[in-house]
Amino acid sequence: MQLGTPRPCSARPPRRSAWLARRPRAWVERRAASEPIAYIRGFKEWLSLRIATDRRALIPRPETELLAEAAIDEIAARLVRDDEPIAAWEVGTGSGAVAVALALRFRTALALGRLRLGATDVSPEALELASENLAAHGVAGLVSLGLGDLLEVSVLPAPQVPDLLVANLPYVPSDEVAAGVGSLRFEPALALDGGTDGLDLLRRLLAELPFQLAPGGVALLEIGHDQADAVRAAAEALPIPVRVSSLPDLAGLQRVVRIERA
Ligand SMILES: C[S@@+](CC[C@H](N)C(=O)[O-])C[C@H]1O[C@@H](n2cnc3c(N)ncnc32)[C@H](O)[C@@H]1O
Repeated sequence: MQLGTPRPCSARPPRRSAWLARRPRAWVERRAASEPIAYIRGFKEWLSLRIATDRRALIPRPETELLAEAAIDEIAARLVRDDEPIAAWEVGTGSGAVAVALALRFRTALALGRLRLGATDVSPEALELASENLAAHGVAGLVSLGLGDLLEVSVLPAPQVPDLLVANLPYVPSDEVAAGVGSLRFEPALALDGGTDGLDLLRRLLAELPFQLAPGGVALLEIGHDQADAVRAAAEALPIPVRVSSLPDLAGLQRVVRIERA
């Protein structure tokens, strides 16, 4: 048949492969069962990045873009101001989205040794996904990954403690996780469950700041929409001098707490 020759009406459409024919139906069934679209498609667009997503880790959320942008601002200011290398550590990296964003933004500083960046998680499965996302963005060699509970396994060359701690730790109250509304039913409980009031992990991390945050250092913590006062109070009760502020999201909710060790 020549190009441009109209196909007779009786001609059959080309057969779709069995794989192609099955896939949309399977997707519809998964969506009908309320599975998040990011798990069905296998990626989420986050901070203009394509972050691979599956059940090994939490799907990165829009509010975490605020956390990543605050971390970028913090590192950028320090690179201009400080002569010494800067050490940044993301705790609870999950899919690695924040680490990928920081590594891409500061690729040159990392390559020159002006910035050291580590990322840890207590979940081996999440860490595996983080490693895949870092590799997919061409920054695998720029971030040290570590498996461990909060700050127990250092990803920085001893005796360096971080100048910047970035964390989006689980902060959903246990009863909400157990209720499993929406995507929570599909995401790992380890990535969500913050204990009775959601603050167990955040309190444990705060208790580490006197030992694990450099003088003048900053911790940036993502929090639930109603947790700013409690986290501020816990930070101000630490036995070190701190300056505490918080950053609102686009809805005006305080979603990131900034704790500066004075
Ligand atoms: C809310 S998810 C955040 C994931 C990712 N940073 C993001 O923003 O999309 C919390 C992450 O903290 C990890 N996590 C939970 N408990 C932890 C602990 N004790 N120490 C280190 N990481 C922990 C979970 O495995 C999960 O990957």
